[in-house]
Amino acid sequence: MKILSLCGSIREGSSSGLLLNAFRSLLPAETQWNSVELKALPYFDPSHQFESVPELIAEIREITQSSDYIVIATPEYAHGIPGILKNGLEWLICEETMKKKVVLFIVSPSGGEYVLQYLTETLRTMDLLPSDELTMVINNARSQLSADGSIDLNLKNSLIELSQRLRI
Ligand SMILES: Cc1cc2nc3c(=O)[nH]c(=O)nc-3n(C[C@H](O)[C@H](O)[C@H](O)COP(=O)(O)O)c2cc1C
Repeated sequence: MKILSLCGSIREGSSSGLLLNAFRSLLPAETQWNSVELKALPYFDPSHQFESVPELIAEIREITQSSDYIVIATPEYAHGIPGILKNGLEWLICEETMKKKVVLFIVSPSGGEYVLQYLTETLRTMDLLPSDELTMVINNARSQLSADGSIDLNLKNSLIELSQRLRI
């Protein structure tokens, strides 16, 4: 199984990042996991969407094309999608990357209902495939995950359950 992961927070010690690490640690050892460093991407520019595509973007699109899933973990910022994530998604989408299944983790102390709604709509508009069965909202990530890799048992079980729904 091959995965492309996107983290909507570049904060050091981000709960979204810890969540991605936790999920990754629970997948089969042979899983190929590629993380996109969203802060390394230029601002999205439609003039280079199809022509003179930046090398890094072309590389990421190629990895996406051959991936089975896009895995996203993100906080909600001001009731919306963090700009850095939206920027990455705008670059990512092209003919070859459409119809990819998306695993979505919303990491929000207040429920993240807005980012869930807007991001799901954006992903569908981009012809990506989020689904209820591969979406999880984590309300208290900070108390359930640590930098040393330890995971609260209930969260761990929920992540394992979700990972068992992945099919290639
Ligand atoms: C600029 C900013 C705006 C935020 N807006 C929201 C919000 O609208 N809803 C919410 O639930 N949390 C909001 N938060 C709190 C984040 O959801 C919370 O800090 C989260 O843990 C950040 O994720 P991270 O640990 O992956 O960085 C906001 C945080 C920041 C920095």
